[in-house]
Amino acid sequence: MSSVLNKRDKQIFKSIPGPKEFPVLGSSLQLAKDPLHFLLNCLDEFDGPFRITVGPSKAIFFDGPNYVEHILLKQHANFSKLTTSFLRLKLFLGDGLLTIEGDQWKKIRGTISPCFHQQYIQNLTEKINSVVNQSLNNWKPEGKINITNSISELTLKILINSILNTTIEIDYEKIKCALKTIHSELFTKIMSPLFIPLLIPTPTNLKLKKGLKIFDETIDRIIQDRINNSIPSEKPDIIDLMMENGIDSLKDQILMFFVAGHETTANMLIWTWYLLSKHPNVSKKLLAEIKGVLTSDNITFSDIKNLKYTKAVLLESLRLYPPVWTIPRRTIKNTIIDGFEIPKGTSAILSTYITHRNPKYWDNPADFNPDRFLEPNLQKISKFSYFPFGHGPRQCLGKEFALLEGTIILAQMARRFEFSMINTKITLDPKLTLRPKEDIIAVVHPYNG
Ligand code: HEM
Repeated sequence: MSSVLNKRDKQIFKSIPGPKEFPVLGSSLQLAKDPLHFLLNCLDEFDGPFRITVGPSKAIFFDGPNYVEHILLKQHANFSKLTTSFLRLKLFLGDGLLTIEGDQWKKIRGTISPCFHQQYIQNLTEKINSVVNQSLNNWKPEGKINITNSISELTLKILINSILNTTIEIDYEKIKCALKTIHSELFTKIMSPLFIPLLIPTPTNLKLKKGLKIFDETIDRIIQDRINNSIPSEKPDIIDLMMENGIDSLKDQILMFFVAGHETTANMLIWTWYLLSKHPNVSKKLLAEIKGVLTSDNITFSDIKNLKYTKAVLLESLRLYPPVWTIPRRTIKNTIIDGFEIPKGTSAILSTYITHRNPKYWDNPADFNPDRFLEPNLQKISKFSYFPFGHGPRQCLGKEFALLEGTIILAQMARRFEFSMINTKITLDPKLTLRPKEDIIAVVHPYNG
């Protein structure tokens, strides 16, 4: 959706400071090349909200808890999720929860929410733990391991076995590759000033089509299996609930869970191992907690509650490397925040990565210090300076699930193996999610402590 502003709003937009831009392209090239560097430079230069043009869209970048609170919570009704990029995303991913609004969104979120409440999630502990144990049993001790691939496969298995609750045979390698393609190619497509419809056979479109076809077939098999083998259960899962409530976008919803629930969690864990490899003192403290709490391969939900430092490690990793590094909205009504007027029709952009690292809101923001997320320090964190899962009504539905899964994987990996990272330099690759450009490779040794 291009930004068609009236005369007054155009003037307001023009009066906002912003970088020098190319005609037509605006800042698209800089954003495509190195978005984090570009946004950080602008923030340094303008020290407050600044405007950028991305293709046909006019956007304003906001940093700081007050803007986060107003845009995502207090004045959320003045903002839509359907920015140009999200509308493009919808063309590929359909009507998944992530990209719908209004009554359609309310109905589906309300239908599946029970499967994300604490009580439902805690019952998944055993299932998640068993998938983790089975996978880790196959890791070769004393060998080189591609942490990126192994964690990606593990989180995919967990999503399929627990949230989607299916036991059909899945080609994990194929699905993992298809997801990787969708994540990187879709980002290029949604950010490009020139949008080429999927019908035109460009190399990117062909790759995307192939990836989406793999999902189409797999999701059909998941649904067909459910229809053929439906067993009434005490606790219906998301597919049961959507079928019972006649949700006709079932296929789109399942695809959305693959896209929203897999790469995000995998990236959280990949970045966590990267950080642990650089901070042996944190690793030591982590291991001490895990050895103190866990007595066998079996993790129970009450163990999870006692793994406080383990959870703090994940929360601190999400601060430094938030997998969802940007949260965009489109302004549907002129909105004033702190005397600053945001014209209707512009996009309001927030960035977890940038706000989480701003020294205005964090002491020593570059330090990896999980103690920030332990009491009493936790009290000092301003709620809206930290938003890896968003805030407000559109906050991540899978937050508790992701943290439970992350805690189990991290604890089980740490108590079984010691890792020595082989890569020395990792580069950021901010696409649909923020991930390391290079795969993380490590040598694993069985833990002998
Ligand atoms: C560390 C892992 C994860 C992170 C950092 C994360 C982050 C986010 C963020 C920031 C949003 C809000 C976007 C916005 O406001 O525009 C979101 C939405 C969402 N996430 Fe997650 N997520 C994670 C894992 C998961 C998992 C495991 C699932 C499902 C199993 C999931 C399902 C969803 C859904 C369904 C939404 C859309 C909610 C709505 O619009 O009502 N996420 N996620």
